[in-house]
Amino acid sequence: MLFRPHQAGAGSGGDDNDDEWKMPAVVVSGSGENQEFEGRITVYVIVCVIIAAFGGLMFGYDIGISGGVTSMDDFLKKFFPAVFEKKHHALENNYCKYDNQFLQLFTSCLYLAALIASFVASKVCSKYGRKLTMQIASIFFIIGVILTAGGINIEMIIFGRIFLGFGVGFANQAVPLFLSEIAPPNLRGALNISFQLFITIGILVSNLINYFTTNVHPHGWRISLGIAGVPALMLCLGSILICETPTSLIERHKVEEGRKVLGKIRGVENVDDEFDSIIHACEMAKQVKDPFRKLMKPVSRPQLVISICLQIFQQFTGINAIMFYAPVLFQTVGFGNDAALLSSVITGLVNVFSTVVSIYVVDRAGRRILLLEACVQMFISQVIIGIILFKELKTTGDNLSKGEAIFVVILVCTFVMGFAWSWGPLGWLIPSEIFPLETRSAGFAFAVSTNMLFTFIIGQAFLSMLCQMQAGIFFFFAAWVIIMGAFTWFLLPETKGVPVDAMVDKVWKQHWFWRSFMIEDDRPDVKVV
Ligand code: BGC
Repeated sequence: MLFRPHQAGAGSGGDDNDDEWKMPAVVVSGSGENQEFEGRITVYVIVCVIIAAFGGLMFGYDIGISGGVTSMDDFLKKFFPAVFEKKHHALENNYCKYDNQFLQLFTSCLYLAALIASFVASKVCSKYGRKLTMQIASIFFIIGVILTAGGINIEMIIFGRIFLGFGVGFANQAVPLFLSEIAPPNLRGALNISFQLFITIGILVSNLINYFTTNVHPHGWRISLGIAGVPALMLCLGSILICETPTSLIERHKVEEGRKVLGKIRGVENVDDEFDSIIHACEMAKQVKDPFRKLMKPVSRPQLVISICLQIFQQFTGINAIMFYAPVLFQTVGFGNDAALLSSVITGLVNVFSTVVSIYVVDRAGRRILLLEACVQMFISQVIIGIILFKELKTTGDNLSKGEAIFVVILVCTFVMGFAWSWGPLGWLIPSEIFPLETRSAGFAFAVSTNMLFTFIIGQAFLSMLCQMQAGIFFFFAAWVIIMGAFTWFLLPETKGVPVDAMVDKVWKQHWFWRSFMIEDDRPDVKVV
């Protein structure tokens, strides 16, 4: 069955995408930068996608696991006795029970390590390929799991988290690229968001595991941290089976092998058109000798500013305060350990289902409407949570009533829902579709590292901010939501259905603000030595 062309390497297809989602048969066609190619979704592609998915699962699992583990008494007694004492001290400040820099470091150091690793990973990825980068990621993951699950002192635990962070840095660089290069071109957008879906599934699985292991004494936390070994091993074994992507092979001058692999993954004899288009894309990309330099030119300003801002805003929605510390937060408002962990499972479920909604809606409704609607939803949820905590949760003394605490969980769910169908996936999708090919990889590296940096900041600061600002922390995040709403309204043009090669003419040159940056700079993009 033939489909209308769809833009390459990006997540949108505009009206064309209606076909994509109703696709009843296996034979599909896709496009390069606007031509059609024949191909099938082969079993081989499906296997590759499943294996790569373990990279996303691993990332999500690491995001979600730390909150539950850091709220377990056995873990606190062993590594953070001071926090354990504080937590059980009747007169202790409700908001400050978990305020401890080392406890936060347990969560946040992973992202700092990922930030550093992502610079190395981007080089390894282009020089040695996606497959090897994923293999290295899985080895880091396995070492990290062994050190954390087998931890006997805090140093070992922190080192383990750092190794996990290296794994995240390598996997986050290679897996999204691998997925979009292996997918038939007209399914790239869907697969791009699928990576986010795997992350949310990983978070949910970790919430569920914590819910069960919290009552396994004294080593429940070891089971929680150790189970991360399953996706890590699957990724390790699986990445031996998968092939390198045709684009990576061609980029590294293994042109004939690239053609063979393309034939194998598309399942048809004639892959000439797609092959030629990859060759053409690689040649174009090679002409830009220094993509980072090109990124600094005015013509790249809109893409760069938007990608960086989306990542900062994504983190300043406060989402990771919930993803990392939901069990701690729910205990703060008065739930017992089990109820707090169960509530985290519920928010995890909402996260997964709302991401599925996004996959369905994003190419129909467009990006702007989703982002703006979510700002309203997140703002209202945060302000009401802030008001309830401000009025009812005093620094010392009683917690919230059961009804109030349940209402807070519902509001956290509406907040997560808004995030998960907008800023979550779109924070990654938009940067992947607005850069032209020659600056896409470098631009995406900026997006990944900005994300890791701000994830680190939130991970390291949230519990202290909660202690200092108390209920005000929710008003703080709500204020950011207004800023990001204004940014979206004024500075983020709609990119739904715009082919990559028409982006400059159709989007940037038409925009009231960004058009002033569209001055051609004829100086060559060569390195000045
Ligand atoms: C964000 C993560 C976040 C996750 C929640 C991702 O898009 O980058 O920081 O934890 O969404 O689902």
